[in-house]
Amino acid sequence: MSDAALDVVEFLLTTSVYSDDRTLDENDLPPSFRRVFWTGGANGGSDDGDSDDGTSRRRAGISRPLSATNSTAREATGVDQPWAAVSDLMFTERDEFSGTITLTQQEMAERWFAERADEKRLLENPTLAKHFAEHGEYGDDFDVTHEEAREQNRPIRADRVWIDGLLEEYFDDEEDEDMLDLVEVRAPEEVDITLEDLVLTEDQEAEIDKIAKAIEHRDYLSEIGLREIGKLLFVGPPGTGKTSTAQALARDMDLPFVEVKLSMITSQYLGETAKNVDKTFEVAKRLSPCILFIDEFDFVAKTRRSDEHAALKRAVNTLLKSIDNISLIEDDVLLIGATNHPDQLDDAAWRRFDEIINFPKPDYNMRADILQVITRQMKIEEFDPQLIAEATEGLTGSDLRMVLREAVLEALTEDRTTLTQEDLLNAVEEFEERDNLKNMDMIEGDHDALVAGGDIEGAASDGGHEHDHDHDH
Ligand SMILES: Nc1ncnc2c1ncn2[C@@H]1O[C@H](COP(=O)(O)OP(=O)(O)O)[C@@H](O)[C@H]1O
Ligand SMILES: [Mg+2]
Repeated sequence: MSDAALDVVEFLLTTSVYSDDRTLDENDLPPSFRRVFWTGGANGGSDDGDSDDGTSRRRAGISRPLSATNSTAREATGVDQPWAAVSDLMFTERDEFSGTITLTQQEMAERWFAERADEKRLLENPTLAKHFAEHGEYGDDFDVTHEEAREQNRPIRADRVWIDGLLEEYFDDEEDEDMLDLVEVRAPEEVDITLEDLVLTEDQEAEIDKIAKAIEHRDYLSEIGLREIGKLLFVGPPGTGKTSTAQALARDMDLPFVEVKLSMITSQYLGETAKNVDKTFEVAKRLSPCILFIDEFDFVAKTRRSDEHAALKRAVNTLLKSIDNISLIEDDVLLIGATNHPDQLDDAAWRRFDEIINFPKPDYNMRADILQVITRQMKIEEFDPQLIAEATEGLTGSDLRMVLREAVLEALTEDRTTLTQEDLLNAVEEFEERDNLKNMDMIEGDHDALVAGGDIEGAASDGGHEHDHDHDH
């Protein structure tokens, strides 16, 4: 109960301090607070309804003063009955008519808060961190600076509401709807994989460190005129972690993740495609700093070589030109391309990337590590990842995930949620059998063998491991 009171008082203090101190901006509010006060954009934010410019849509943002009511407090803090939680305190008051909750004695509230809050709480609230640092009388209780709290706080550009607001502002007419087939924008908060969940090679880690440093020091790079940086190409077989790594980078660096699905370029609106490619890059620039991820990059090469539709060629040329015109240093956009078929890329495509990062199939040690990572949450008796790694030569990270999934589902048929090493070995065997079936399927005239093999259903419905990463997320 007292924690609920503390949460609500923190909220009340924050809204009050933020409303008064004009030097504070959105990045000083904890994400759960600012979400409540966000207006404009797709989600509309709070219901304060001040549509100041009568013309069209208004710019998304947070406007002062922030008003604390039962409903905003509930949404921000998760406390069910915010007013009930603080109504006993001497320094709170609720206006019956408007429902606004205010602090009648802010100083008393500050003292009360300072006595109960720990540094961790303050570190997560830059608004209050600044306030308490500036007010010596409580400042001694806390050793948290405004900068520290701001640095730790997730930036507003990483919030879904912020991204939606920008997209809404940018893509207003109906015809833009089909843009969404081509591009998917994800807020870092919506990415659930982190770099820690991924087992990377030394090379991959070194490259990622390098790019993180480059992002951090892009002002310096710009000063010395170094522009050819920030375009990466991830190369490797399906299921080796290319998409996951790009997403994890977005999450770990708090950058929006803009994904272009190149195969969608061939969708029905071919005439619009070149324009849409242009717009995609505009989106990325507007959302910057962000990561622009272009999957299936080999698609570019295919269309350039063959006799494709002229509109398609135009679209691909626009794409290549757009890539030339975007820069990490000038636009704050990190471009990552990915391909399963590097052999199909021509020089023109290849030349556009300044770092090529190889995603090989994992070796023995990596497989053992991946097995450790993906089983972290599972109970497995006599688990020996080394032994499984030995038995899974040639499998990718995605394959290993599929093996584990199989083992888990198998065990569930016996109502077991604790696995055994035996379960895993059986699942490996099953996987290999299925893999054989899949390969057989591709050899002409082997159809009878496939039928005799029996398990067509399984092979057909799961389609082998090239697909499975689609289901994994
Ligand atoms: N090196 C790895 N470490 C941990 N998990 C991996 C690794 N490689 C692949 N995976 C897992 O396999 C799945 C598919 O990976 P994905 O990134 O989609 O591969 P790709 O884009 O290369 O086809 C994801 O769930 C991912 O977490
Ligand atoms: Mg992928």
